[in-house]
Amino acid sequence: MDIAAILREVHESVGQSADRGAVATYIPELADIDPGLFAMSVVLADGSQHSVGDAAMPFSIQSISKVFALALALGRLGDRLWFRVGREPSGLAFNSILQLEHEKGIPRNPFINAGAIVVTDAVLSHHAPREYLGELLRFIRTAAGDDDIHINRAVARSETESGHRNFALAHFIRAYGNLVNPPDLTLGAYFHQCAVEMSCDQLARAGRFLMGAPGMPRLVSPGRVRRINALMLTCGHYDGSGDFAFRVGLPGKSGVGGGILVIAPGRASIAVWSPGLNAQGNSKLGTEAVELLARRAGWSVFG
Ligand code: DON
Repeated sequence: MDIAAILREVHESVGQSADRGAVATYIPELADIDPGLFAMSVVLADGSQHSVGDAAMPFSIQSISKVFALALALGRLGDRLWFRVGREPSGLAFNSILQLEHEKGIPRNPFINAGAIVVTDAVLSHHAPREYLGELLRFIRTAAGDDDIHINRAVARSETESGHRNFALAHFIRAYGNLVNPPDLTLGAYFHQCAVEMSCDQLARAGRFLMGAPGMPRLVSPGRVRRINALMLTCGHYDGSGDFAFRVGLPGKSGVGGGILVIAPGRASIAVWSPGLNAQGNSKLGTEAVELLARRAGWSVFG
């Protein structure tokens, strides 16, 4: 398979789309990004990497960080984590508060904001925020094999000043006793975690530990790799998860910065980035690009 030719073709055809979605504006520091940016990078099971477009340009990974935080939390707490967060798709927006009251402060899954806040809180119980962020960065840098990965503090500050929904979620969860630390402490760590920046080149490499292929970095056990992939498939795109599974057929995790990390188990780790989002807050061009890439490459977990 000539993956470089496939990437060029996908970049060429999807990149022409006039409707690129809308850049997220609720985090002011992210609002000014150029919606014309577009990149893809793929690491194959043989270790080779192939990229097109603005693949060396760092962007805000936002909710994609929830995958790395979950891997870290499972390593630290094991299955005890599942007493505090569920494993079901929510069918609601990433920042919804609706289910939390019915479900008594136990968020549906670790990828909606409420669930990710609980995951960060769980790891924080064993750490100071600075140590947690250091450990998370070390995990991501080791996964990517690249030390030049950092947190954008201006983005974290911007979200701290404007993140009223996340403060509401954290306080509501705390009212049910499912947040151990003070909300502003947990959210401080969560906002900084979301403000990690990576390029598509770096993100595709950071996803290699989820490929389950020989020779890739082994940061979590094979059983956990399968479970993280299962959660990415069922919950990684919020209320767009079913449509992403239908169209792409691979586990993926999106972020409001316009990035998506997609795993073709045993075959590839894929990163795409285009800042314009669809109605569910997932990259519009990014989704179209991985849909076409998966079809051309014949990658799907469904055969
Ligand atoms: O908490 C937030 O709202 C952001 N830091 C992350 C949300 C996000 O990336 C949703 N993904 N599409």
